[in-house]
Amino acid sequence: MNSVPAVEVDGVSKNYGSVSALKPTSFAVPEGRYFVLLGPSGGGKTTTLRMIAGLIRPTTGRVRIGGRDVTDQPANRRDTAMVFQGFALFPHMTVEQNVAYGLELRRLPKDELRDRTAAMLRLVGLTGFEARRPSALSGGQQQRVQLARALVLQTSIVLLDEPLAALDATLRKDMCFELKHIQESVGTTFIHVTHNQEEAMTVADEIALIAAGTLVESGSPREVYETPRCRFTAEFIGENAVFSGPIVEGALRIGGAAPFVRDAEPPLAISVAAENIDLHLQQPDLEQTLPGTVVDVFYLGFSALLHVEVDGGPVVPVRLLSKELDAGIKSGGRVWLSWDPDHARMHTA
Ligand SMILES: Nc1ncnc2c1ncn2[C@@H]1O[C@H](COP(=O)(O)OP(=O)(O)O)[C@@H](O)[C@H]1O
Ligand SMILES: [Mg+2]
Repeated sequence: MNSVPAVEVDGVSKNYGSVSALKPTSFAVPEGRYFVLLGPSGGGKTTTLRMIAGLIRPTTGRVRIGGRDVTDQPANRRDTAMVFQGFALFPHMTVEQNVAYGLELRRLPKDELRDRTAAMLRLVGLTGFEARRPSALSGGQQQRVQLARALVLQTSIVLLDEPLAALDATLRKDMCFELKHIQESVGTTFIHVTHNQEEAMTVADEIALIAAGTLVESGSPREVYETPRCRFTAEFIGENAVFSGPIVEGALRIGGAAPFVRDAEPPLAISVAAENIDLHLQQPDLEQTLPGTVVDVFYLGFSALLHVEVDGGPVVPVRLLSKELDAGIKSGGRVWLSWDPDHARMHTA
């Protein structure tokens, strides 16, 4: 594998007047990786993607593609193709014309153009739909045309901005699997922006979390889900109970309970995945337990989700197997929470 990153974002920031859309941010995307920028709306994801594409000029910093500084290059000189939010197809053109359009601009010979377009329609499963117009396609099919239109250019980077946001939940899930398979089969570097954590987890080799103009942390889906370093990540990804509280005599206190985490220093929070919390109907004989009251019980089929209000503390999620509800767990009931200390993760921010 090439050791020069496919994309390097180096100290890049963007201000709009006094608004800071992105604070100085650096990251590198290795060649062939499926890289996802994940975070809440307004966090700076689209701004970041458009600066890589060359559609927005950074206020500071440099963008390099394949080791070449492209910061001063226009979008059409950057070896990137973009899949925009929404469908954005030419309504008066057929599927084939939509996909071939970018190649026509590049004045490709007619037969090569036809071959590449046909191969791409085959890849996205739209052979037989060449003569249709976008209005005669489903949402998922239109999304595939958009993808084909970007991939047919054979750029080294494909940039996707909320590519599945217009699809319903079932279709979005199917398209996630397809996107992942397509990226694996073409081997192109993908940078995909989404606010949807499940979408990010499904497609990504690597996820970078962006919020409030800051890259919070990055890692594999498994790393950010199981061992989030930042409190924000624990709150945004997965289903976690997050506790913070006063540090009394060097120990974190949650409500009035026994000290959690000795030798603690502020600012400190701990998080525990909802499925790693043990629920007891009687006070257990353990040093560290949190009493609380069940405020919600959601039966979800295989598992159940409870919301438990910890005495003097937050409302936290707890996951059980549904059959464990039979022990007499109900809304309004008193419970005690505990966990294996190895399952508690510490966060500084
Ligand atoms: N052209 C613009 N003028 C002023 N503010 C903008 C402009 N574009 C984006 N912003 C602001 O920059 C921030 C980041 O926006 P954006 O990158 O679109 O976030 P995301 O894609 O994560 O939802 C938001 O606060 C947004 O309102
Ligand atoms: Mg956006």
